[in-house]
Amino acid sequence: MTRRIYFDNAATSFPKPACVYEAMDHYAREIGASAGRGAYREAMESGEIIGQTRRRIAQLINASDPDSVIMTFNCTDGLALAIKGFLTEPGGHVITTRMEHNSVLRPLNALKDFLDIEITYIPADTSGLVDPDDIRRAVKSNTRLICLVHASNVCGALQDIKAAGEIAQELGLAYLVDAAQTAGHLPLDVQAMHVDMLAFPGHKGLLGPLGTGALYVRPGFESRLKPLKEGGTGSRSEVPIQPDFMPDRYESGSHNALGIAGLNEGLRYILDKGIDSLRDYEEELCAVFLENTADIPGLVVYGPCDIDKRVGVFSVSVEGFDPAELAAVLEEQFGLLTRPGLHCAPFAHQAMGTFDKGGTTRFSMGPFISIQDIRYAAEALVQIACAQVK
Ligand SMILES: Cc1ncc(COP(=O)(O)O)c(C=O)c1O
Repeated sequence: MTRRIYFDNAATSFPKPACVYEAMDHYAREIGASAGRGAYREAMESGEIIGQTRRRIAQLINASDPDSVIMTFNCTDGLALAIKGFLTEPGGHVITTRMEHNSVLRPLNALKDFLDIEITYIPADTSGLVDPDDIRRAVKSNTRLICLVHASNVCGALQDIKAAGEIAQELGLAYLVDAAQTAGHLPLDVQAMHVDMLAFPGHKGLLGPLGTGALYVRPGFESRLKPLKEGGTGSRSEVPIQPDFMPDRYESGSHNALGIAGLNEGLRYILDKGIDSLRDYEEELCAVFLENTADIPGLVVYGPCDIDKRVGVFSVSVEGFDPAELAAVLEEQFGLLTRPGLHCAPFAHQAMGTFDKGGTTRFSMGPFISIQDIRYAAEALVQIACAQVK
């Protein structure tokens, strides 16, 4: 049987480091308790695991206070809280881009008519890059929020979130960044980038399991962010009003402590390896993929060619194949697991000119993909493209 190589790390990373599976097994068999819901040892231990996860996330993104990290169930969950918790008054203007994922586009559109909010979508060039000066030019007197995806989940284009953060800071605008494809892939510094809110999944680059994620909220900014749900927090049980302190203000209901136990170890793995060395390795993978797929008739690789301007997410198309057919050939003949279609980012495909073709076929890298795997994937694409040209 052909070996199967997982190239869908932009959806969720796989495999996870062994320590992630071990921590979840240990939690499920030996701890089991819900954090903050008891004073016995296991419940305290569960709380300590969640606290440690917050501290590790804070370290990774340079947040000054671990309690500014709210645990969520995925990145969509954090983005929804950021967008719907911040935009609660009618009117105003929001700036976002055409590279956003539906987890930004859809909540914004849900609010648009309901609250009469105006949205400007900054265009991207055909490689998926947005010019921060276009963001500055789009600012109006009633602009309330800039919302920017750090890296495209379609073609890997990396936006200059620091430049956009400087604009937001200079003009006193709230700033939300979607780090779904960059957390755990490259260094993030919420303070240097002037970020008010940073949403990210725990189950992609941070190597935790599905059902985990987080939203960073700059200390002090919580006064401008309403919770979307109220409920039990295990704290201040004597009052029937939601606590106003972090992170309980936004963390109602039992945590996914089993998942967070895995995420905690994913974070440890990343911190031990060092985020710079993980980024260096991903750059190496990108370089090998680009080198081995360059100048092949009938094969198009989308996104920036400059490694500094991208992450390891590649959209490709081969003449004569629709994206789903290509993904099927890659799986059946080569054991390569990719994702075809529009990748929940319709405007990004319009920017790249691939919307009307039904999208692209996406390869996305992770730390357990080897250089050899990349060469094999590139060779598979070259073979398919060449067979078509003959
Ligand atoms: C750019 C981007 N934003 C948001 C999301 C949503 O993340 P999640 O699947 O954790 O909800 C994704 C998922 O692929 C993404 O790529």
